[in-house]
Amino acid sequence: MLSSPPKLYVDNVCMTFKTATGVFEALVPVTLSIPSGRFVSLIGPSGCGKSTIFNIIAGLLEPTAGKVLIDGVDATGTIGRVGYMLQKDLLLPWRSVLDNVILGMEIQGVPLREARERALSLLQRYGLSGFEYLYPSTLSGGMRQRAALLRTLLFDTDIILLDEPFGALDAQTKLQMQEWLMQLWSDFGKTVLFVTHDVEEAIYLSDEVHVMGTRPGCILESILIMLPRPRVRTSSLTPEFIAIKEHCLNLLTASAPALPEAA
Ligand SMILES: Nc1ncnc2c1ncn2[C@@H]1O[C@H](COP(=O)(O)OP(=O)(O)O)[C@@H](O)[C@H]1O
Ligand SMILES: [Mg+2]
Repeated sequence: MLSSPPKLYVDNVCMTFKTATGVFEALVPVTLSIPSGRFVSLIGPSGCGKSTIFNIIAGLLEPTAGKVLIDGVDATGTIGRVGYMLQKDLLLPWRSVLDNVILGMEIQGVPLREARERALSLLQRYGLSGFEYLYPSTLSGGMRQRAALLRTLLFDTDIILLDEPFGALDAQTKLQMQEWLMQLWSDFGKTVLFVTHDVEEAIYLSDEVHVMGTRPGCILESILIMLPRPRVRTSSLTPEFIAIKEHCLNLLTASAPALPEAA
């Protein structure tokens, strides 16, 4: 029987940047095989190449070597194939929440009226009721991230990339946003790639966690998270969860550069 290709296949992607002082090897061959509908996280220290992988998948950067395949078709260097929420939310300050959320649809040529109607019902359904006509500067961090995430989801692609979407939020808001994102993921059925610094967040949300190391950036280990769904907060207190977390932390610690000795 012929099996279908993964939704996303990052095939031995390497990245070397040319810098003023020479060349900088940011990624050595990175391979990721992601089935449709999966929730997958990348964790790793700052500078290990997480955003670079996202930029390559999004077609914004051409890898030095390797390919990106979507549904088995070469999409290397092709923009518009994935929804991408950058590390900074980049809501347009001069547009209302509603008009920010429809941006992706506008770019894809959806008529304005239809785009607004679709967005309005989603804003109401996903906790932004009453915020539709406000401007981003008047919103809390959590609300801004909701708007930016909905905008990414409304970009009509099967795959979305979320680069540290909750990195700047306070702990309580972050937990609420995780629940909110799980709801969206199960409603929309998209394939999600998620970058976070937070090991517990990665395990709680994901079907698979790829732990990255640095200098040069690489995948240290890919860990399938078999914890049952729907997950609840107490999932993180189970021995299975704690064992995975310890394993991830050990990998990250072992690969971290040693701190200089105190004088
Ligand atoms: N355009 C660029 N030119 C030179 N170096 C870059 C460029 N973009 C990223 N880098 C370097 O590549 C490494 C990986 O960056 P990045 O992907 O942003 O890391 P992360 O998102 O994991 O923090 C970093 O050391 C960064 O300084
Ligand atoms: Mg980054």
